[in-house]
Amino acid sequence: MLKTILAQVKEYKKPAVMTPVCMIGEVVCEMITPVLMGRIVDLGINGKDMSYIVHTGVLMLLVALIGFFFGVLGSFTAAKASAGLAKNLRSVMFRNIQTFSFANIDRFSTSSLVTRMTTDVTNIQNAFMMILRMGMRTPVTLVIAIAMSFLINARLAAVYVGAVAFLGVVLLLVLRTANVYFRQVFEKYDAMNASVRENISAIRVVKAYVREDHEITRFQKAAANIYLMFVRAEKIVTGVAPVMMGTVYACILLICWFGAKQIVSSTMTTGALMSLLAYCMNILMSLMFLAVIFVMITMSEASARRITEVIREESTLKNPENPLMEVPDGSIRFDKVDFSYHKESPEAVLKDIDLKIQSGETIGIIGGTGSAKSSLVNLISRLYDVTGGAVYVGGHNVKEYDLDILRKQVAVVLQNNVLFSGTIYENLRWGDPDATDEECREACRIACADEFIEQMPEGYHTKIAQGGTNVSGGQKQRLCIARALLRKPKILILDDSTSAVDTATDARIRRAFREEMPATTKLIIAQRINSVRDCDRIIVMDDGKVNGFDTHEGLLKNNSIYQEVYESQVGANDGADFDGLN
Ligand SMILES: Nc1ncnc2c1ncn2[C@@H]1O[C@H](COP(=O)(O)OP(=O)(O)OP(=O)(O)O)[C@@H](O)[C@H]1O
Ligand SMILES: [Mg+2]
Repeated sequence: MLKTILAQVKEYKKPAVMTPVCMIGEVVCEMITPVLMGRIVDLGINGKDMSYIVHTGVLMLLVALIGFFFGVLGSFTAAKASAGLAKNLRSVMFRNIQTFSFANIDRFSTSSLVTRMTTDVTNIQNAFMMILRMGMRTPVTLVIAIAMSFLINARLAAVYVGAVAFLGVVLLLVLRTANVYFRQVFEKYDAMNASVRENISAIRVVKAYVREDHEITRFQKAAANIYLMFVRAEKIVTGVAPVMMGTVYACILLICWFGAKQIVSSTMTTGALMSLLAYCMNILMSLMFLAVIFVMITMSEASARRITEVIREESTLKNPENPLMEVPDGSIRFDKVDFSYHKESPEAVLKDIDLKIQSGETIGIIGGTGSAKSSLVNLISRLYDVTGGAVYVGGHNVKEYDLDILRKQVAVVLQNNVLFSGTIYENLRWGDPDATDEECREACRIACADEFIEQMPEGYHTKIAQGGTNVSGGQKQRLCIARALLRKPKILILDDSTSAVDTATDARIRRAFREEMPATTKLIIAQRINSVRDCDRIIVMDDGKVNGFDTHEGLLKNNSIYQEVYESQVGANDGADFDGLN
C-alpha cells in the first residue's frame, strides 16, 4: 500500500529528500543553542566576561539565522513535494478510473470515487507534508536532546529516559483505540457524499416532490454521524495531552529539585541546569509532534488504503492480446448467454439467451420494466461481459475485438444518456471529433433534431448547460441519437431513446433510419408497440428470457405477452391511426 502511494512521488523526489535534510539542519542549530546559552551563563555572566557574552551572543544569532534558513527551505520543499504527490495521485487515479468498466464503477459507486479523489488525497497530502517535516526532525531532536542531557548530567538525564519510555507506551495504547474510529469516519464520508451527490444532481425532482425536509434530515444524519465519530476519536487523542503535560512538568520539577541540590553542592553549574531545562522543553515539543504524527498516520492510513484500491483496481474488461481491429459486418449472435451483475448473486439477470440477428436488420425489443432489455443490449458493445456463453458481432466473439474499435462500431444511445456542457456542435463531435459541420447537420436531420436546433437563436452554436438542463427531454434524446449516428456505426442501439419524443417524430426518425442507413443493424428498445411494429423482427423479453422473436404479425398470432401489450396499447384504437392521435 505504502509502495503504491510512494511510487507517485516521481519527479518530486528531490524536494522529498531535501525536506528531512533541511529539518535535520534546523534541529542541529536548535540543539546548539542551549549549550551556548549555558556557556553565556557560566562563563560570561558568572565569569563577568562581557566580550565572551557578546561573542557567544553573536554566534547564537548566527546559529538561529541558519536554523531559520533551513526551516524556511524545509517548509518550502515539503509543500512542493506533498502538493506534487497529491497531483500525481489524482492523475493516476483519474487515468485508471477512465479504464474502468461499468462493473468496476458499480463496485465503487460514483460518490465513493469522488471522495477518494478529493478528501482522501488531501489527507495523504497533509500527512506526507507532516511526515516529511516532522518524521525526521522529531526522532533526531529526541536523540540529540537526550544525548546532550546525558553529556551534561547523566544522573538527571536518566529521569528523561524513564519519562519518554512511559509516554511512548501511553501514546501507542491510546492511538490504537482512536484508530478504530478514524477508520469509520471515512466510511461515513462516503454516505454523506452519496447523499449530497444524489440530492444536488436531482434537486429538481426533490423540489417537485417537496422532499426538501426529508433530504435535509437525511443529510444532517450523515453529517452528524461524521461529527460523532470525529469527536469520539479526538476525545481519545486529546486525552493524551494532560498525561503528556503531567509527565513533562514532573520531569521539570524533578530536574529543578535535583539540579538545585547539585548546584548547592557545586557538582553542577547554573548554565548546565539551564541547558538541561531547554532540552527538556525540546523533548516535550518532540513528543507532542510525535503524537500529531501518529494521529496523522492513523488518519491517512484509511485514506491510503482507499486510494490504493482505486489505483490497483484492474478493469474487469481486458483488451485481448492480438485484438481484431475491424468489425466485418453488423450481424449479432447470442450463444447460450447467461449474465448477472454480481458473481455472487443467486439468480442470473439474463438466462440462456440464443439469438441470431442478420446485418442490416431492424430489431425491436419490447418487454416489461426490469425484464433485462438494457442488460441484453449492453453485452453487445461489451459494457459488461457475459458470465456464460458468448456474444458474437460480425461473426467474432466480442472479446476478440479491440474495445475501442468495437464500441466505435456498436453505438449505444444509453437509456439515461447525458449531454455535456458545451455547444451543440461540441456535443455532437463526441460521436466523431473530425465530423464536418455538414455531417453534424446531416446526423441531426436523420434524428429529427435539426428542426428545433435551427429555431434556436444561435443554432448549432447554442450552449448546452451542464447536464443538458436547457433542452427538453425529447430534444436531448434526439441530440443523443444524432451524436451516436455520427459514429457511422455498423450496429446502432437505441435504449428507449425516443420515449420522450412525440409519436409522429418517432415515426419519422424510424423512417429516416430505414431509408438512409439500410446497412446498419438497428436495435430499438421501446415501451410502445408502435415504435417497434414496423421492425423486421421483434424480441419479446420477459424476466431475463427471450419469450418470443418474430415479426409483428407472427407475434400477434403466437405470443401471448405481445398480444396483451398490443391489446392494452393499440387494440382500442385499432392501431392504424394511433400515431396520428398522439
Ligand atoms: N448496474 C446494475 N447492477 C445490478 N443490478 C442491475 C444493474 N442494472 C440493472 N440491474 C438489474 O437487472 C435487472 C434487469 O434490468 P434492466 O435494466 O436490464 O431492465 P430493463 O428491461 O432495461 O428495464 P427498463 O424497461 O426499466 O429499462 C433488474 O432486475 C435490475 O434490478
Ligand atoms: Mg432499460
